[in-house]
Amino acid sequence: MIKKGIILAAGTGSRLSPLTKSINKQLLPIYDKPLIFYPLSILMQNDIKNILIIVNKGQVDQFKKILPIKNNLGIKIQYKEQIKPAGLPDAFLIGKNFIKNDNVVLILGDNFFYSRNIRKTYFKNIKFKNGANILLCPVKKPQLYGVAKINKKNKVLEMIEKPKNPKSNLAITGLYIFDKNVVNYSKLLKPSKRNELEIIDLLKIYQKKGELTAKKINKDVNWLDAGSVKDLSLASQLVKNVEKIKGKKIGCLEEIALKNKWI
Ligand code: G1P
Repeated sequence: MIKKGIILAAGTGSRLSPLTKSINKQLLPIYDKPLIFYPLSILMQNDIKNILIIVNKGQVDQFKKILPIKNNLGIKIQYKEQIKPAGLPDAFLIGKNFIKNDNVVLILGDNFFYSRNIRKTYFKNIKFKNGANILLCPVKKPQLYGVAKINKKNKVLEMIEKPKNPKSNLAITGLYIFDKNVVNYSKLLKPSKRNELEIIDLLKIYQKKGELTAKKINKDVNWLDAGSVKDLSLASQLVKNVEKIKGKKIGCLEEIALKNKWI
């Protein structure tokens, strides 16, 4: 059972400059809602109510204005600041008092998932006990992402961050599940050439111990890393189409809280 989730909503958002010069990327709009609503909705849809949001230094107030404070959606949100970009595993060092001895989901604040069959997707149906789990999505340009090569039994054979010559088309999405060891393993990591802790290095620790599992996301799931102008706009169009044409809401926090009977 996974009860805790971290949304990493820090970073410079350089690929979206100048939009991100004075505003956090995760507060930019995807159609009619800020980007952060979408990863938050994924956690809520999977019954995660205890959430830590990591933002850049000095940005907590911006988020508090947009997101519910106290328990008005039946969820508990806490904030921590990341002083400077230090890589994804830094989220576990920042969040160590939040994680304590529990399993935790990390979702990147710019990752957008949409599925018609949302309840059966993502991590609710992953029988997670310990170790780490990654969600993989086939993409056209794997060189833009962390890439995993797997065998027929979904065993991870190789992982490379943004490879020039990818050996597979499976991107590692920004939705990860980790067990309580994640904090200690993150402490073992050394910064890479770009002076950041790398998520792939953390995953490799689990892989070496035989504790890394992978799941390909279902075909009906759309996944976008909305950290680029193109994908930010694609995600907006997708939300617009689904909401206007199909009359369904995506990323509507209140609707999920009501459905879950949290409010
Ligand atoms: C990060 C990870 C990468 C992953 C991607 C998913 O990359 O380093 O492995 O595939 O998120 O969104 P970034 O978007 O920070 O360049």
